[in-house]
Amino acid sequence: MLAIMGAMDEEIELLLADLQAPETLTFSGVTLHKGTLEGVPVLLTRGGIGKVNAALTTAYLLMQGATQVIFTGVAGGVHPELRVGDIVVSTDCVQHDVDVGALGYELGSIPGELPAWPADETLRAVALEAARDVEGVRVLDGRVASGDQFIASREGVQRLWTLFGAACAEMEGAAVAQVCSKAGVPFVIIRSVSDTADHDANVDYRTFMPLVARHAKQVVRGMLARL
Ligand code: ADE
Repeated sequence: MLAIMGAMDEEIELLLADLQAPETLTFSGVTLHKGTLEGVPVLLTRGGIGKVNAALTTAYLLMQGATQVIFTGVAGGVHPELRVGDIVVSTDCVQHDVDVGALGYELGSIPGELPAWPADETLRAVALEAARDVEGVRVLDGRVASGDQFIASREGVQRLWTLFGAACAEMEGAAVAQVCSKAGVPFVIIRSVSDTADHDANVDYRTFMPLVARHAKQVVRGMLARL
């Protein structure tokens, strides 16, 4: 079954309103909504903010039979060409706040794990096609950098750009990616840019989040029609 996950209510509420015949499953503080969207059986959930919430929720989705995972939400733009409203479809995900450098590991690398988790090619292709249907926005195919930090400085953006080649910064994608990769379950992260992760990020994020969350929803609906 296809799973669709966001971090916050605003990221899934538009999809939740359209979900047919929803059934609710709960486990350890996580709520999953089971039903159909555009005639497609789905599990839909708000996982909460940050990597731990994302990993816990992904594990629960997999336990409930998720065979593909789409994460939809907002992000801070890191790629210099990204503007508010633009869309990033993940090529792969990194955890920018992991540092085991004292033991000789590359920044972002968890010993014994992949340095970056690649998204599924089929889901990516479908997401890119659906994203290109959203009018007036740039669609970028790029790396998603996740960490338990809201990035709101020029230095923060520069670090993610130069050290990781990240397209955008958010707080969940790489945790979803890590769990899905371990289980061999295909995933893709779709992020709509709510701010450019600079010193205005907190204000822009609050202002634009409801608007750009609509773009992410449009992409998911476009994917459902193509899957
Ligand atoms: N989600 C939206 N904007 C973000 C930012 N600037 N940093 C981290 N996560 C975000």
